[in-house]
Amino acid sequence: MNLVIIGAQWGDEGKGKIVDYLADRAENVIRFSGGANAGHTIVAGGRTYKLHLVPSGMVYPGKQCLLGAAMVIDPEALFNELAELETQGVDWKGRLFVSDRAHLVLPSYKAVDKEQDQKRRFPIGTTGRGIGIAYGQKANRDGLRVCDLYDEKFYSRLTAEEKAFLDPYKEKLAPMVVNAAYWMEERKNSMNLFEGAQGALLDLDSGTYPFVSSGFSCAAGASVGGCVGPKKLDKILGIFKAYQTRVGNGPFPTEFKEERDGDLETLVRELGHEYGVTTGRARRCGYLDLTALRYACIVNGITGLVLTHIDVYDGMDEIRACVGYRIDGKETAEFPSKITDLEKAEPVLKTFKGWKKPLGGVRSKAELPTECLDYLNFIEEFTGTPISIISVGPDRDQTFNAEDPWTK
Ligand code: GDP
Ligand code: IMO
Ligand code: MG
Repeated sequence: MNLVIIGAQWGDEGKGKIVDYLADRAENVIRFSGGANAGHTIVAGGRTYKLHLVPSGMVYPGKQCLLGAAMVIDPEALFNELAELETQGVDWKGRLFVSDRAHLVLPSYKAVDKEQDQKRRFPIGTTGRGIGIAYGQKANRDGLRVCDLYDEKFYSRLTAEEKAFLDPYKEKLAPMVVNAAYWMEERKNSMNLFEGAQGALLDLDSGTYPFVSSGFSCAAGASVGGCVGPKKLDKILGIFKAYQTRVGNGPFPTEFKEERDGDLETLVRELGHEYGVTTGRARRCGYLDLTALRYACIVNGITGLVLTHIDVYDGMDEIRACVGYRIDGKETAEFPSKITDLEKAEPVLKTFKGWKKPLGGVRSKAELPTECLDYLNFIEEFTGTPISIISVGPDRDQTFNAEDPWTK
């Protein structure tokens, strides 16, 4: 079975945590897009793991993990991360595989990334990890792929500086490199979990362009980066927080505003520890945007939702969520393509009653307070998509299914 997990907002929805939770029953975990711009957190067995390039299934002993064909890999960042995981007792050797079609990120890309971001018409506030440069070179057909490390004709055309950086990684990567098409074909009857990075609204095509990343963080990216045909994807899970966050620049219609919302942004940021895993930047916070979530469900064919961070709302008297936008005085239920429209969009907010009970210890849907269930039911109805998994805290154990995610 092929089960896909994507972020359904602007990233940081809890993909790392949920992939680790689902890895219990998976045999293989395939990270299919992005690079070291991602920051995925797993809290399990009293330890916290922070992953950027390594698939989140790696923390679970015995699982095989693949860095997919549509990823952009900084080899230095990858081996630093593996060394860090080793100090935390994670035995990764023999379990990590790398697609030979994946592209490489060179050190110079990072400086160019930062420089270009300051010069572009609309600075994005990138993570500075050279991601856009690597994907740009790829689209321009001037990129460097993992398989090129072992192609003497190709390799000889690199500069002395590039070769000096790459030489040590040729040998280190060699035992992990596979032709992912056949690696996946051999596992076609296994339980495969496809791990997305970033989120639906950061996808290059369906996101809030140009304020997006450069990879395919949409569900279709699992097919391209995971080297399986689209008809082979059995289920698509979209993760979302009970509220909304964004790192970097770009429109954010439901962002908390002091004049309307008081100190809600600070409160949610502190309760949810909303600081970037990769850059440490404070995340911008706002109300759950159901208009954007419904759009993400439509363009990604999301078959089930995963709700995280619902515990952050435990102490609130009331909760609000956006059910439409008012743009130039007109109400719309559609998520606009034009950035200027999104910047102008005033959220139409619906208020729900808070539950005022701690949810961190809840382990089944039946234990959820009625007020919380009302909020969940409304989300399911509005998006036309069932909530399959609920997360009530950062720990692996603070998770439960509303339905079995591993049945087709
Ligand atoms: P990812 O990029 O989607 O993997 O998410 P991040 O790891 O960047 O950010 C999610 C943060 O929220 C991490 O610090 C997680 O430990 C934490 N987290 C995940 N799920 C929950 C939840 O249900 N409740 C709370 N309070 N924290 C959560
Ligand atoms: P995970 O996988 C949140 C954002 C950056 C910036 C834009 C482009 O942890 O959810 P890039 O360096 O990719 O060119 O930056 O995308 N961004 C993320 N925001 N979570 C992420 O990943 C992100 N990866 C990139 O902040 O606005
Ligand atoms: Mg993250």
